[in-house]
Amino acid sequence: MEKPTQDMRYLTFALGKGRLANKTLELLEEIGITCEEMKDKESRKLIFVNEALRLRFFLAKGPDVPTYVEYGAADIGVVGSDTILEENRRVYEVLDLGFGRCRMCVCGPASAKELLQHHERIRVATKYPKIAKEYFYNQKHQTVDIIKLNGSVELGPIVELSDVIVDIVETGSTLRENGLEVLEEICPLSARMIVNQVSMKMEAERIKELLQALKGRIAKA
Ligand code: PRP
Repeated sequence: MEKPTQDMRYLTFALGKGRLANKTLELLEEIGITCEEMKDKESRKLIFVNEALRLRFFLAKGPDVPTYVEYGAADIGVVGSDTILEENRRVYEVLDLGFGRCRMCVCGPASAKELLQHHERIRVATKYPKIAKEYFYNQKHQTVDIIKLNGSVELGPIVELSDVIVDIVETGSTLRENGLEVLEEICPLSARMIVNQVSMKMEAERIKELLQALKGRIAKA
């Protein structure tokens, strides 16, 4: 990385809380970007600084990451492509980080397959109403009722709130354990790096260097 100076502005990273953030920090460490402050699990701090590299990091709820990046409160964000599609913010998507791979799928009991084939008006429960709408209305041309949930979406067909769900499938074990299956695949997903559109110009050198180092590391993995 370019040798930072005291008057250099901080580059700020917004990381989606949870598994993605841990993986991102591991990857950043591999290219020499560390944030010791962040490792203190007892800390209630919300923002962490690497003074030497003039970098700042904060954790946010996944769906808020593109918001911070669009408004420039963070220069760089890391979040799943599901969230990028759902939030549809004005940001540059610059890199597939290669982890957090999973699929966005239409799932339900095997008996629901028919309802999809015959384009019946069905109920779809999901945390991703925009993605579900785009898939059913614009790709399948099927009119459906979309019901927004905030988690444990697999409950939808079990308690007969909905006929099917649109959700993320990683190992498939949540589906299996609840008697559901993948009925149709919408798209593959993975962790992506996004960049604020102004930062991309103003901090072009530092961001390009970061992307180069990450690409090199990902290619070796
Ligand atoms: C996600 C997703 C599925 C599950 C898929 O839920 O919504 O429920 O993981 O993973 P699997 O295929 O490996 O079983 P998450 O754990 O994020 O919680 P949520 O249900 O509250 O959204």
